[in-house]
Amino acid sequence: MNIRQRIVIIIALLLLISCTTSTPTNDEPLRLTLTELAEFNGKDGNKAYIAVDGIIYDVSDDPNWVNGLHNGFEAGKDLSVEIKNASPHGVSKLEGAIKVGEIKK
Ligand code: HEM
Repeated sequence: MNIRQRIVIIIALLLLISCTTSTPTNDEPLRLTLTELAEFNGKDGNKAYIAVDGIIYDVSDDPNWVNGLHNGFEAGKDLSVEIKNASPHGVSKLEGAIKVGEIKK
């Protein structure tokens, strides 16, 4: 086998490997318990997630939620009651928010 044939075989093998070991698809919704959600508090490089009515939203890049804090409220929690009763805006602010998953009971 000459060098050219070897190179062709190596390229073919690399192509085959790259097809069979494709990166896992990310279409499975994230499912977290409230205990697991607590880790996503927006601190120490963690993502900032909040849950409202069983849906988890990613507010990591929201300027209102710097370091997972917003008007005295903390990310990593279920804030269903608070957003409805303690905020002036109610759930309307969630319309543009990024949904990333659901709370696992
Ligand atoms: C999830 C639970 C949430 C709670 C408990 C909450 C709470 C509050 C509170 C108490 C205020 C009034 C602050 C003041 O009077 O100075 C406020 C204002 C505000 N919040 Fe929230 N908030 C929540 C979620 C969000 C989200 C997800 C966003 C945006 C993505 C957001 C954006 C804002 C903005 C822009 C204001 C300024 C006033 C307004 O536009 O109505 N909040 N929030």
